[in-house]
Amino acid sequence: MPVPTGPVDLGLLPATAAVAADGRLWIGACDVLDLAEIHGTPLFVYDEAHLRAACREAVAAWGDGVAYATKAFLCVAMAKLAHEEGMCLDVSTGGELHVALTAGVPPDRLVLHGNNKSTEELAAALSVGVGRIVVDSFDEIDRIECLVADPPALEGGPEDAEPPVRWRPRVLARITPGVEVHTHEFVRTGQEDSKFGFGLASGAAALAVERLAALDAAGIVEFVGIHAHLGSQVFALDPFAQAIDVLAGFFAPLGLPELVVGGGLGVAYVNGEEAPPMAQWALSVRAACRRAGIPDSVRVTAEPGRSIVAAAGVTLYRVGTVKDVPGHRTYVSVDGGMSDNPRPVLYGSGYEAFLPREAGAPRPVPIRLVGKHCETGDVVVAEGFVPEDLVVGDVLCTPVTGAYGHSMASNYNKVPRPAVVFVADGTVRTAVRRESLDDLVRLDV
Ligand code: LLP
Repeated sequence: MPVPTGPVDLGLLPATAAVAADGRLWIGACDVLDLAEIHGTPLFVYDEAHLRAACREAVAAWGDGVAYATKAFLCVAMAKLAHEEGMCLDVSTGGELHVALTAGVPPDRLVLHGNNKSTEELAAALSVGVGRIVVDSFDEIDRIECLVADPPALEGGPEDAEPPVRWRPRVLARITPGVEVHTHEFVRTGQEDSKFGFGLASGAAALAVERLAALDAAGIVEFVGIHAHLGSQVFALDPFAQAIDVLAGFFAPLGLPELVVGGGLGVAYVNGEEAPPMAQWALSVRAACRRAGIPDSVRVTAEPGRSIVAAAGVTLYRVGTVKDVPGHRTYVSVDGGMSDNPRPVLYGSGYEAFLPREAGAPRPVPIRLVGKHCETGDVVVAEGFVPEDLVVGDVLCTPVTGAYGHSMASNYNKVPRPAVVFVADGTVRTAVRRESLDDLVRLDV
């Protein structure tokens, strides 16, 4: 059992993290305290070697077609990196699509998701020729049918512009198999009562498949597969196998070439947690497919997000106040909070916190780590432990903040969003610059 007051488990840190002889933490051969000094705080620091290795591991485990779920963390640098390392990219809005295209990711390496894709989003995706569209509703099928039959003139393009690259999109149908996973209710998606996809039990899935097959026969779409995403931060592999069992009877007779199990592989956030490796996830899904009689020729793949980026990133904060509330607790306040990491307030998520100036030090002092926002719920670590000598002005580090932190960041209380830096081999590059005060009024008219 991990000792709650012991040092942070170094296994939670990015792959190249190392503690120097003087106790200071280095990532990507960069001194983390120097990064805070030079780039300011709060700061998201990503270990580029870790990111690249995670992408490669995903491609090795799942093969070509595995897609990085960009909602976990997206900026131009990340989109480029995932593409360079051989992943496709899952984008779930026109905004994510735009960032991926701006990064130069070839459209055919993109998979468009979303339970409420607008006509404009679908038209944008079709006009550039995205690789796949995961169809989520009957309304969307109607929209795709209309758009393909009667492509709109694209804004800014000449009337007689070249025909769009692919007006016959490859589509998959998103199915909710009715499998519930043990994760937070807000990130559970495989159950029948869901805004996502077509329910298997209700017969909606069968109807959707019928319509897509008819559109395929009419040359409007190319119906290539079935997609199911169960939920996120899932530690047990059984639910994925269970979903395959449930889906197999539906999928196999269709004779389609592709099956996607979505994302969801959990990651360890705090000392003592353990998550299955990517390779094991893929092996267990493939084994379930084989048992269920799904032919080896079917491309079985996935869309990991969190497991690619979470542990590659850490957040650096600076301690601003230490307030002892006698009989209750000590509050340590940092210069960020729910605006750069809303996960504790949204899902009650736990994190570790430690001082990068003495990364291996024991942490005997119980504290509550809080942000600078005007809410009691603005908690970063509800029950944290820090070294005895923590003082105002110290840099604190929270590991495993690479997923759903920056991507869900806000400007609440008009706190500018932090910068994002990538470190590798002793060099640091700014991937996203820190927002300025001027940025906060940039959109006001
Ligand atoms: N594919 C689909 C269709 C998804 O909806 C998601 C995540 C993924 C893939 C990637 O799942 P991952 O591998 O990252 O678990 N904000 C929440 C997580 C929401 C996940 C939404 N969908 C959090 O911070 O825990």
